[in-house]
Amino acid sequence: MMKLDLTGKNAFVTGVADDGGFGWAIAKSLQAAGANVYLASHPRVLGIVKRILERDKNAESRKLPYGAEGELAPKALIGCDVEFDTAEDIPAERREVKGYREEDVSIAGAFAKYAELSGNAPLDILIHAVAFSPEIQKSHLETSRAAYLLAHSVSSYSLIAMTRAALPYMADRDASVVGLSYLAANRVTPGYGGGMAAAKASLECDSRTLAWFVGEKGVRVNLISAGPFPSRAARSIGDMDEMVSATAAQSPLRRPISAEDVADATLFLCSDLSRNITGEVLYVDAGFHAMSPAF
Ligand SMILES: NC(=O)c1ccc[n+]([C@@H]2O[C@H](COP(=O)([O-])OP(=O)(O)OC[C@H]3O[C@@H](n4cnc5c(N)ncnc54)[C@H](O)[C@@H]3O)[C@@H](O)[C@H]2O)c1
Repeated sequence: MMKLDLTGKNAFVTGVADDGGFGWAIAKSLQAAGANVYLASHPRVLGIVKRILERDKNAESRKLPYGAEGELAPKALIGCDVEFDTAEDIPAERREVKGYREEDVSIAGAFAKYAELSGNAPLDILIHAVAFSPEIQKSHLETSRAAYLLAHSVSSYSLIAMTRAALPYMADRDASVVGLSYLAANRVTPGYGGGMAAAKASLECDSRTLAWFVGEKGVRVNLISAGPFPSRAARSIGDMDEMVSATAAQSPLRRPISAEDVADATLFLCSDLSRNITGEVLYVDAGFHAMSPAF
């Protein structure tokens, strides 16, 4: 059987805050396929992620998929707040806070740390699994300007900023950038508030545009538009269990998606099997996006 092999590839994975989201499943799949994983997590969750990586009680969730030996053991855990491009962009009062005062956790700082810890190694894979709005529960109509702009800054612009920062390490080696989107980018989803729907629409436009600008360096940029999944971030939206079961019932495959489904598709997009695919949004949603709402 042909094996999807990422042995020796280096992967920079953002968006891991615990062992219950897409980022965690993607990191495990990448390592199981042979990649060296560098986790870049929000400074506020570094302690949580470190504990999950070390504690006996989380051993089961660290186990690698596909029958691979061992468990998730990133080469490094790096602090990164994707709201900030450089150390100078971090407000003075934030730089006093734990997680920020110890080192430069801007995007530039995180890639400098990657360079230091990896010995300036080239980078083959960049995973963007980050999203945030402080007003996710507010309707589009009620969303403040500040929350709308912050949602875009963290959830969309960060893809541009991270790709730019990663490019010196990714150029001319068939590297792959993969981000995560949601159907609310294209269809009205009233409960997905705080500017997040518009942020995902921007993310989809940005990924296509980035695909053009980095394509001449051999770098591909694709997104996975995932179906609803009860991660920590998603639970803050509302009744996820209801949303997951209603979506599953109306999907062609009549089932919910798992984080492993998204991780499997991500592996494909990071591998040579997808070498001529870029600027694409791949739906991993049991086919829900294809349905008419009034079927
Ligand atoms: N869960 C779903 O139903 C669903 C569906 C489609 C797409 N997505 C997308 O998948 C991606 C991962 O989300 P998830 O559902 O796994 O939830 P999650 O909570 O596991 O991941 C969201 C991550 O974003 C990080 N983050 C937020 N602000 C940040 C910042 N300023 N700097 C650095 N990191 C920051 C959080 O720390 C967290 O790790 C997101 O882009 C999300 O929009 C999720």
